[in-house]
Amino acid sequence: MDGLMKFVILVPCSFFLVALIKFLYDYLWIPLRIQHILNSQGIKGPPYKFIYGNNDEATQMTKEALSKPMALTHDIFPRVQPHIYSCINRYGRNFLYWDGVRPELMISEPELIKEEAYIFINKLLGNGLVTVEGEKQRKLANNIFHGETLKEMRLAIIASVETMLKKWKGQVGKEIEVFHEFKLLTTEVISRTAFGSSYLEGEKIFEMLNKLSIVLSRNLSNTGIPLFVKLQKPSDMLEAEELAKGIQDSVSKIVKTREDKVVKGEADNFGIDFLGLLINAYHDTDENNKLSLEDLVDECKTFYFAGQDTVNSLLAWMVLLLASHGDWQEKARREVMEIFGNQYPNSEGLSKLKIMTMIINETLRLYGPSNGLPRTEAREVQLGKLVLPANIDILSLNIGLHRDPHLWGDDVHLFKPQRFAEGIAKATNYTAAAFFHFGLGPRSCVGMTLATIETKIALSMILQRYTITISPAYVHSPIPILTIRPRHGIQIILEPLHSC
Ligand code: HEM
Repeated sequence: MDGLMKFVILVPCSFFLVALIKFLYDYLWIPLRIQHILNSQGIKGPPYKFIYGNNDEATQMTKEALSKPMALTHDIFPRVQPHIYSCINRYGRNFLYWDGVRPELMISEPELIKEEAYIFINKLLGNGLVTVEGEKQRKLANNIFHGETLKEMRLAIIASVETMLKKWKGQVGKEIEVFHEFKLLTTEVISRTAFGSSYLEGEKIFEMLNKLSIVLSRNLSNTGIPLFVKLQKPSDMLEAEELAKGIQDSVSKIVKTREDKVVKGEADNFGIDFLGLLINAYHDTDENNKLSLEDLVDECKTFYFAGQDTVNSLLAWMVLLLASHGDWQEKARREVMEIFGNQYPNSEGLSKLKIMTMIINETLRLYGPSNGLPRTEAREVQLGKLVLPANIDILSLNIGLHRDPHLWGDDVHLFKPQRFAEGIAKATNYTAAAFFHFGLGPRSCVGMTLATIETKIALSMILQRYTITISPAYVHSPIPILTIRPRHGIQIILEPLHSC
């Protein structure tokens, strides 16, 4: 009896003790060890706080910064990422940050950023199934931005812009909120690109993804005690799970419909749009090319997240910048008229739009996505002189570099497209990796061509018909929700051109 009692008490106690040791190991020992390793190599940062890391401070600082009104200036770094801004000032261009228990090495030194972009190649030459897996999906995405498909995309973009402009005809002289208008436009374009003929179903998926992005960005810096989070999930987490399931179900439904058509002989392939290519890969018998259903759904999500919001924001900020810089608006319009007259934009002309390219670059420098995607290295890696322990996230900070006065000069916060007149290399004083609006190296943006032609076509067609001014109702309030968005939209007023 005595022995049994001991057993009954000792077994749960031992389990508890093991769990406690594991918990302290993961949540205290490992972070402190990583902090020590990086500190000893000269990388400092805000100290690790048990479980929560630095997220509470970040949330607090962002809330405070966003609550203050601001004038129409482009010095937005202290507002949209105040915690990162203050860390760079305090600890230097490269520092260690704690996203809860996850260590993030933030880098904004061009040399390190260049090295980081190419760590991937070393992995490819070494081994790494993960890399090969990612490469398979990249190849697929690259396949749709070529030749015939690109031509069809140009025509689809023109048709979508035309629909938007038809609606605008009734709004001349009145206020239009363009962030919302461009949301509709870019959703239609990305839905047609990704889902082709099934684009209406694609738009429903997008609606869910959009809600998911809002829920996720609301919780980017929230950290909970893991056991409590598991026991009682916060309502946002429940909503996010429900949305993720809805997206998965909808994509599976579209996939099934296309498969059925092939089985019944109503179609002889799964389609040549992005989804069609993904379904082909899903059915591939060669294991090296095969995608799982989970991968397929993830790819559709990435495509939407990466391809809609980015162009939506770029177009909206460009319109604001042109509305507030009449001289550049006029220069851009003159170029468009010289190249296209009143005709629809053609491929050859799109590549000749030099002023427009300068304006795109300058807009992305000031209002582009503020961070690259984090990379996690599963094993110890060397980055420049640093030796980084395994499982550390590395994040390149575009925003730090794109607003560094040492690189761009004292007028760094001004909208001056002329800095790009002789190309990116000259604008950055030949500092490689100083400007990476579409990312760098092998993992850079696969949608760059689509993003560029979509932006050029939309802007050209607007400038061919209207002059744009800012409405007195506009309140400047950039806010980070994955990309940088205008919190209250961008209200403009259109006046028709005489030649229109
Ligand atoms: C103004 C528009 C856009 C900007 C500024 C932009 C920028 C970026 C950046 C900075 C990255 C991360 C690269 C890195 O971490 O090294 C990226 C990745 C990506 N972008 Fe874009 N992007 C834009 C439009 C698009 C469009 C239209 C699509 C698709 C149709 C797209 C698809 C992707 C994908 C799939 C990735 C992930 C690449 C990978 O991890 O291999 N992007 N983009």
